[in-house]
Amino acid sequence: MTPHIEALKEDIAKTVIMPGDPLRAKFIAETYLDNYKLVNKVRNIYAYTGFYKNKKVTIMASGMGMPSMGIYSYELFKFYEVDNIIRVGSCGAYTSDLKLYDVILVDKAYSDSSYAFVQNNQKESEITSSTYLNQKIKTVVQAKNVDIKTGTIYSSDVFYKEKENYVELHEKHHCLGVEMESFALFHNAKILNKQASCLLTVSDNLVTKEETTSLERQTAFTKMIEIALESIL
Ligand code: HPA
Repeated sequence: MTPHIEALKEDIAKTVIMPGDPLRAKFIAETYLDNYKLVNKVRNIYAYTGFYKNKKVTIMASGMGMPSMGIYSYELFKFYEVDNIIRVGSCGAYTSDLKLYDVILVDKAYSDSSYAFVQNNQKESEITSSTYLNQKIKTVVQAKNVDIKTGTIYSSDVFYKEKENYVELHEKHHCLGVEMESFALFHNAKILNKQASCLLTVSDNLVTKEETTSLERQTAFTKMIEIALESIL
């Protein structure tokens, strides 16, 4: 047990699939897992552990933003001895080439967040994801013959920006889009010698202003979820 997770250590699998939203964690468990049980409900951050094609896996929410992702991923890696975390989230796209529901494999997170500096004085603004997990994900993508993009994502501390700077983030830092958690997840994985990666589905486009509804965001991300689950087998 930790300050934020009540699950017994043996009730958390070595691999965790991590959506931001607790209701999406519930949806994934109910839709894809056999013999699953709810192992955490502290602060409604649901975690379900069960079996996907006989492989034990935990689906646990991260909450929104780097402080929340930072807490849960740290506790899972450090105190529950989790080896792998794959975030499955949504993002806003920074280019009109990206359509709603396109899937992005994040190979690098760029951020102006102070998370890494506050955590261990690290000044880098870019952190890579796990090449080990990314390779597994790419193998599944090839076998399924689905199309995904790979690239850098901007991890933002702010959803509502008074001055939107996505053109600069796209042109100068090559960010395909924006979310709010990957940088903290990848940082924690690096300092604790663990593996972390991230798949994102485009839920809105800052250039074309297209967007999905909150109900669609909760359930319509099956392509990404199936890639993540297949990659852990
Ligand atoms: N901004 C930040 N995070 C997001 C967005 C966005 O537009 N869309 C999905 N996650």
